[in-house]
Amino acid sequence: MAQNIYDNLGFYEKYSQLDRQVRGHAGAPEWSSVSALLPDLKDKRIIDLGCGFGWFCRYAMEQRAKSVTGIDISKNMISKAKSFPKNSTITYKIADLDEIILPKGSFDFAYSSLTFHYIKDFSRLMKTIYDSLTSKSHFVFTIEHPIYTAPQNQKLVEDSDGNQTWLLDSYQIEGERTSNWLVKGVIKYHRTMTTIIDSLIKIGFTLKYIEEWKPSEKQLKDHPTWKEEITRPCFLIISVYKD
Ligand SMILES: C[S@@+](CC[C@H](N)C(=O)[O-])C[C@H]1O[C@@H](n2cnc3c(N)ncnc32)[C@H](O)[C@@H]1O
Repeated sequence: MAQNIYDNLGFYEKYSQLDRQVRGHAGAPEWSSVSALLPDLKDKRIIDLGCGFGWFCRYAMEQRAKSVTGIDISKNMISKAKSFPKNSTITYKIADLDEIILPKGSFDFAYSSLTFHYIKDFSRLMKTIYDSLTSKSHFVFTIEHPIYTAPQNQKLVEDSDGNQTWLLDSYQIEGERTSNWLVKGVIKYHRTMTTIIDSLIKIGFTLKYIEEWKPSEKQLKDHPTWKEEITRPCFLIISVYKD
């Protein structure tokens, strides 16, 4: 059973106040890159894995998807998602993606935003998603970048000139990481870039696009603290295709 930190009240209260949760995609800096990868969603049966507050589910509904299934392990997140104006296009389900079984060939597009670094068995989930898609389907997801998940302690070290850099002594050692983000003891899983790409290709997906997101000049001007993303990208954006 996964940790389910989003049902920890202290974590949830802080997470709910993040710009990307208050304003949805307008507050998600990587959204313009992600949205450019989406196929036409009209009439598609869509699954959103780790749907959170349901921002993408509602977006897909606005694009006239046939149906949208939002899956999340957290009762808090699903309950918030359900609090937005209802529409019969969207179905929310509480489930652990590390154990989920999906009906085969039942979706035409799969999507996930910033969830897979919480998943222990990445390869199993990718196979489950692959099997749940019909042929000629796209799958677009974001995941925390391996360079971001690698450090054991998420710790900044400083050299004698005062230059700061992230401790990256454990990149090739995959597995569980405990980080202190919003609260202490948040469990995530680090995988190298090779493992991520290799898992997708071995399962049968065709890699269409990959981006290590960085802010534009304008975004940097508006949000100077995002300059960290230039030296240590946080978001990895991937688009794959099932032939
Ligand atoms: C960073 S939030 C992203 C939420 C949403 N996709 C978004 O971009 O706004 C990660 C989400 O993944 C969910 N999650 C984490 N581990 C999970 C698991 N094992 N099974 C299902 N959902 C999980 C969390 O509950 C949370 O809602």
